[in-house]
Amino acid sequence: VNDLMLEVRAFQRQYQVAVGMSQLTSRALYERLRNRHVVAITHTHLAEPYLLALEQNAGARRWQSIHVAPGEASKSISQAEAIFEQLAEWQCGRDVLLLALGGGVIGDLTGFVAASYMRGVDFIQVPTTLLAMVDSSVGGKTAVNLKAGKNLVGAFWQPIHVSIDPLTLNTLPKRELSAGLAEVIKYGAIIDAEFFGWLEQHHRQILALEPEALMHAIATSVRIKAEIVARDEFERAERALLNFGHTFGHALEAEAQFSGYLHGEAVAVGMVKAAQLSERLGLAVSVDRERLEHLLLACGLPTREQQHFAPERLAARMLGDKKNLKGEVRCILWNGIGRARLPEPVPLALLEEVWRSAR
Ligand SMILES: NC(=O)c1ccc[n+]([C@@H]2O[C@H](COP(=O)([O-])OP(=O)(O)OC[C@H]3O[C@@H](n4cnc5c(N)ncnc54)[C@H](O)[C@@H]3O)[C@@H](O)[C@H]2O)c1
Repeated sequence: VNDLMLEVRAFQRQYQVAVGMSQLTSRALYERLRNRHVVAITHTHLAEPYLLALEQNAGARRWQSIHVAPGEASKSISQAEAIFEQLAEWQCGRDVLLLALGGGVIGDLTGFVAASYMRGVDFIQVPTTLLAMVDSSVGGKTAVNLKAGKNLVGAFWQPIHVSIDPLTLNTLPKRELSAGLAEVIKYGAIIDAEFFGWLEQHHRQILALEPEALMHAIATSVRIKAEIVARDEFERAERALLNFGHTFGHALEAEAQFSGYLHGEAVAVGMVKAAQLSERLGLAVSVDRERLEHLLLACGLPTREQQHFAPERLAARMLGDKKNLKGEVRCILWNGIGRARLPEPVPLALLEEVWRSAR
């Protein structure tokens, strides 16, 4: 399977996303790390399988690494502060290059630190979860969480390069792999009916980590995201389509106190809810929602709530979503597979009804 090179054109800079088996030891990465002062940010459990190979191939002038604990709790101001202090103690200058090796937690945290340290330094994303490969490592959104909610402090800060090595998925727990697939399916669902059809045919190969199918799924997802980011980096319109299922999903995650669902699982349920709501509004037909449900289920994802939270509370959570304006809930709905619609206001009572129905 050949390596692929995709371009992301953002306001700040244009950069490449390399996708290929053995990217960790690739020439493209070597060229960016050689002779640089590199500080890698990762988890201890990723050091042996991946960090060592990276370091040996890098040819860096100086190489240091910081290990943070796995889990969403590491995406915090206090964790970022500890990294800032460590960088300063190591006398890292503006020429330091940060390297994020891990999932979305590492990527968002490292990006946030890179955006702020010395008013901004270079960073490279080396995503190791499917979710990070197809979503969080591309597009330049970086953030940490507050007690009041997720991703409330952050910046747009683009990496100088993204290096995706699907071989790193070999050690990823299957549940995490499925959660990442939810975002892959989302791309088909919102904008690319042909890709959706391909996923219906090939999801087994992806779950079995067969290189060709995996590469196609990742590369197509990155291409779609890169195209949307190039057209609307700062989410004034089209980029919002990427939130399909997310307003419902966030409500579920929040009600479950961020412990019951993985993000991708909540998004899977959320996409089905968005499809149900679209049906109710006469925008879409049930066949499309059924196809979506079948594919999600086949990929090991939930399509219905596991615990039953009060519909009023779930709807109220949606009102609290930071993407809302003027106290109304704005949802991404669809006209069917591949045809998501720009955000539109939906009455609270209708949202409650959708949460209540078809459990
Ligand atoms: N910036 C964006 O545009 C964007 C988009 C979507 C999600 N996100 C953020 O991404 C985060 C979720 O990312 P995630 O799903 O990657 O979770 P994660 O980073 O927590 O990783 C999931 C788990 O897998 C482990 N892991 C990672 N790679 C592994 C590997 N190769 N082998 C074995 N274990 C591995 C991690 O230690 C962790 O326990 C959330 O904080 C979310 O807000 C950001």
